[in-house]
Amino acid sequence: TRSDSRSIAVVGGDGIGPEVTAQGRRILALIAEKRSLPITLTDGDYGIEAYEKRGRMWPESTRIAMAEADAVLFGAIGGTSYPLPPKLHKTDSLLAVRRSLDVFVNLRPVKTSPALYEASSLKPRVLEGVDLIIVRELLGGIYFGEPRGVETLPGGERRGVNTHIYTSSQIQRVARAAFDIARTRKGRVCSVAKENVMEAGQLWREEVQAIHDARYPDVELSHMLVDHCAMQLVRAPAQFDVLLTDNLFGDILSDSAAMVTGSLGMLPSASLGVVREDGRRGALYEPVHGSAPDIAGKDLANPIGSILSVAMMLRFSLGMPKEADLVERAVSDALESGARTADIAIGRKYISTVEMGDAVASKLASLL
Ligand code: NAI
Ligand code: MG
Repeated sequence: TRSDSRSIAVVGGDGIGPEVTAQGRRILALIAEKRSLPITLTDGDYGIEAYEKRGRMWPESTRIAMAEADAVLFGAIGGTSYPLPPKLHKTDSLLAVRRSLDVFVNLRPVKTSPALYEASSLKPRVLEGVDLIIVRELLGGIYFGEPRGVETLPGGERRGVNTHIYTSSQIQRVARAAFDIARTRKGRVCSVAKENVMEAGQLWREEVQAIHDARYPDVELSHMLVDHCAMQLVRAPAQFDVLLTDNLFGDILSDSAAMVTGSLGMLPSASLGVVREDGRRGALYEPVHGSAPDIAGKDLANPIGSILSVAMMLRFSLGMPKEADLVERAVSDALESGARTADIAIGRKYISTVEMGDAVASKLASLL
């Protein structure tokens, strides 16, 4: 049996990562205090800055804290001047972190709010009622397939190789995750692939359909080709409930979908693993954006992506769906009362990262 106490590893990372994560962290701490929850927060270093300062990108203490935690709250990784040293890519990159936590499904909800219609490049009538979630497979496909690399052929021509591979069990587990989520929402899954030209896409479609027919006949399943889906996401995004797709397509479609909300700074994500025998599962919560070196250190970043990632943590790792709803409501209330960071201000007066945290925390305190 497990105790009720929970441990969370908090890893800000690089650039604006620590600034936005500090605001997510305080929201979590506020809930823990108001609900008398025994939560231990363990802070850890990770990233390019840690590598430059101390020669370790992913220090052992952070590895242990992440591995032992019930969930990880993460910020961002990425520097300005040089790419990741190649020897670290395999062992210490964010792909390596995701693999070590075995998080195979990435959830990226996209919801519009009338308060932010003016910040989006799309028309209000297109934005109305958008409430979708992208369910992206995170440990397979072309980002992980072997063989890979750049090789020189006899005669001097060079060739870059990547391999797109999916096994039936990889497709089945992410499909089950998507159908389970659909049951808690509007009950509709749209599976996105490119089965007209890719064999792995044909397998994707067949396996998703088979899981549906055998175990989820109550959920409405449709299939869409990825190029058509890219178009529909900006033409009529409100048609979607759950979008189920692979690693590469999910990466691309979710950045497009991000612009529906007006700013990359608004979007949270959850990456979840297989439920293990002791009932625990890898769980990594992070905003969708990167380290934003152009605004780092200036107290300008929008912390809402991190704060909404905490809401996802409450829902998926801490068994506190009511509190998750309250955090989301506190964010809407803050926006409705006019709180804007620079990225969503559109010519209005704007507030700092910390002040946005203050605004959400004070709305939340009155709801708790
Ligand atoms: P980015 O997401 O860091 O920034 C893109 C643009 O959005 C920038 O103009 C930035 O100022 C703005 N932006 C991002 N988050 C914001 C926020 N919270 N508030 C206000 N504005 C925000 O992507 P970019 O510039 O392509 O990459 C920068 C670094 O981040 C690179 O080293 C990249 O590899 C890394 N990266 C890391 C990710 C992660 O840790 N999951 C994801 C994407 C990029
Ligand atoms: Mg991306």
